Amino acid sequence: MTKIGILTSGGGCPGLNAVIRGAVLKGITVHGQEFVGFKDGWRGVMEADSMPLPRLSVRGISKQGGTILGTSRTNPLANGGRRAVKATLDQLGIEGLIAIGGEGTLAAARALTEAGLKVVGVPKTIDNDLNATDYTFGFDTAVQIATEAIDRLRTTGESHHRCMIAEVMGRNAGWIALQSGMASGAHAVLIPEHRVSLDQVAQWVMSARRRGRAPLVVVAEAFVPVDTFGRPRLGGIGLMLEPELEVLTGIETRATVLGHIQRGGVPTAFDRVLATRMGMAAVDKAARGEWGVMVSLRGTEVVAVDFDSALGQLKTVPEHRYQGAAVLFG
Ligand code: F6P
Repeated sequence: MTKIGILTSGGGCPGLNAVIRGAVLKGITVHGQEFVGFKDGWRGVMEADSMPLPRLSVRGISKQGGTILGTSRTNPLANGGRRAVKATLDQLGIEGLIAIGGEGTLAAARALTEAGLKVVGVPKTIDNDLNATDYTFGFDTAVQIATEAIDRLRTTGESHHRCMIAEVMGRNAGWIALQSGMASGAHAVLIPEHRVSLDQVAQWVMSARRRGRAPLVVVAEAFVPVDTFGRPRLGGIGLMLEPELEVLTGIETRATVLGHIQRGGVPTAFDRVLATRMGMAAVDKAARGEWGVMVSLRGTEVVAVDFDSALGQLKTVPEHRYQGAAVLFG
């Protein structure tokens, strides 16, 4: 019986358990595979810290947030990691790995593939910034959580006639801000891909106020505003904007950083389905001996692409998408 290892690596993300369940259930019932889970990402692989993954172990977990395997940001390419990974696979009689993770994990999967190991990658990130897949699971959940939180900020903002700022995650891509901002009807959405001056933001805020609205600003964590000389202003963006906008607009302003709340809790139905399909597709690839690929969503189909097409360049928000949303600002 072919033995396959599974690991979840990098930042936590709603849907990880659904991938594990999809892979284990289909792998056991259709392909006759056997599964071993590695604890805390690549650390578990390097240290041979594993647990068996029989059918019972994945019962009912697709709706659970987090990951039953644990995760970490351990880099298997550092400190003799490649050798340690190979030694563990040999020791446990594992043919190959299903590595569920973001850019760092997939880059490691590519390097291990080049070193002769067998890996199928499953893309994961709430940021939705991976190339070669239309969506990553976790993103829909993060947008849903952010939108619900922003809707709540809006009602308290309206009661107090305040300007509310919500800072959302996304690393260097503005997808969570763009989508949650559009969904919640924000008066300004600020993303790292598009430079906007504080004066412009203040104008949007004041225009909303003139219509009797409580202004709402959604800002991505990596947004960099420019000062009047066009120079970037860095760091703590939501909290930094709070006093600046208050001075520029004269409107009482409060900022909230949503932070890791966006990565926790149960995945949405969309993310559960996408994650389950990706897990099943990964074991199909392994069963056919098609290692060295990443499963990906293209349109409505789950396909496989090579690691190179997924890595190297981030999938950021294109200018026309921002301009499309900006029509409704202010
Ligand atoms: O990549 C996912 C993500 O949640 C980003 O949006 C965020 O910048 C980062 O991870 C936070 O990482 P950590 O959990 O290590 O603080």
